[in-house]
Amino acid sequence: MPVAGRVSVSPAHRVAGVLRVPGDKSISHRYALLSAIADGRSTIANYAPGADCASTLACLSALGTIVSRTPAPRAEDPPLVTIDGRGLRGLRPSVGDLDCGNSGSTMRMLGGVVAAHPFVSTLIGDASLSRRPMRRIMGPLTLMGASLTAGPGDRPPLHIRGAELTGIRFEPDTPSAQVKSAVLLAGLQASGETSVLEPASTRDHTERALAAFGAAVSIHPSTRPGTHSPPGSLRAGALITVQGGQRLRGGSFTVPGDLSSAAFLAVAAAALPDSDVSISGVGLNPSRTALIDVLRRFGADVEATVEDEHAGEPVGRLRIRHARMTDLVITADEVPEVIDELPVLATLGTFGGSVTVSGAGELRVKESDRIAELVAGLRAVGADAEERPDGFQVRCGARLTGGTVHARHDHRLAMAFAIAALGASGPTHIDGADAVAVSYPSFFEDLDRLAQRDRAHVDGAKATL
Ligand code: S3P
Repeated sequence: MPVAGRVSVSPAHRVAGVLRVPGDKSISHRYALLSAIADGRSTIANYAPGADCASTLACLSALGTIVSRTPAPRAEDPPLVTIDGRGLRGLRPSVGDLDCGNSGSTMRMLGGVVAAHPFVSTLIGDASLSRRPMRRIMGPLTLMGASLTAGPGDRPPLHIRGAELTGIRFEPDTPSAQVKSAVLLAGLQASGETSVLEPASTRDHTERALAAFGAAVSIHPSTRPGTHSPPGSLRAGALITVQGGQRLRGGSFTVPGDLSSAAFLAVAAAALPDSDVSISGVGLNPSRTALIDVLRRFGADVEATVEDEHAGEPVGRLRIRHARMTDLVITADEVPEVIDELPVLATLGTFGGSVTVSGAGELRVKESDRIAELVAGLRAVGADAEERPDGFQVRCGARLTGGTVHARHDHRLAMAFAIAALGASGPTHIDGADAVAVSYPSFFEDLDRLAQRDRAHVDGAKATL
């Protein structure tokens, strides 16, 4: 009898084949938000198909933006998203609450946009988002002149009374691309100059997208004490400055494939002997490719080839082949640039070589507590895993047994458990696996297509929702 939201994953002996992954979630949010406050019409191809990016479009529609979807020229591609820009500070008050669903990126970045509009907006989310901290955007947006209130512990719902904002210089304590982006989007609509001095480098899609929409953004190496990392580790954060009042120009944009979605099959290929996976059309922005360095350090043979550039975003091909497996240590310096890949990187420890992560306390405030739930889930299927205050260790030991594990409605945990399941001796039943719809709706179909299973491995289970 199938259980709703449960997917059963059989072991596999290798993964092989060619893959395209859905459009990048981070870039899709940004193109949608910038299109809505640009002048003229924008068309976005390969917009991320998941629920998170649909939440951003729904919120923009509620704010008076005309958003439409039309079939792409090739039937296999996702619909083109067309957005009629309302111009800087041109959004209209929403009649109801703005439902950001499961999407922290929507709530934080849209927060920066509506803070510059002279009306009250109420941003709400699902049970997971309603537990996530919003103080990190409330501080800077208040300093700029907006009024923000939230529930206990500064958690959603988030009420924002927008205003005519004034630029600030902001130095966040925690590296966060969402917070940086919220402040830059508010700064674009403020008077004067707004700058953000990052404590460490985070994904720079907002900076690249602003430039692609015609705004001047200046980026200088950091002068903040303590932010320079030793050679070979994370790039130090930058000072990013935007002048308020610059008008954006709508245009045609194509979203690259999402490297964070590619990470799941890339890790499977690194982990299973004889594997060979090629992923085409994937975003290779250097602020996202630390994953490649980590996989190489683990021992995988990874080729990354930039073939093109769309709106300042490098796009290309990745080929990942299994080679060796060694112990992996990931420390605070590297964490911001692999933050979304840490759950799946943890699974490498269940195949060979242990994985030790520290300086990753931020994982506790993601879609779930990704330290506690990841370790609990891996242990439930037989892993030797230990939770630490700011990270975890997964020790290479006995083969996983399989069994039943709960994804806690967290898309990246559901997919990480599915990758771990490939190396188990029996089937793994993942409850709450329908969460993959948040970022990678076709994940289980893609996994099933690339996973090669001989009779002895199959054990009667098949991936079905
Ligand atoms: C994102 C930034 C990261 C990341 C999230 C997407 C973005 O969050 O975990 O999935 O698109 O800017 P933080 O900014 O909270 O680190």
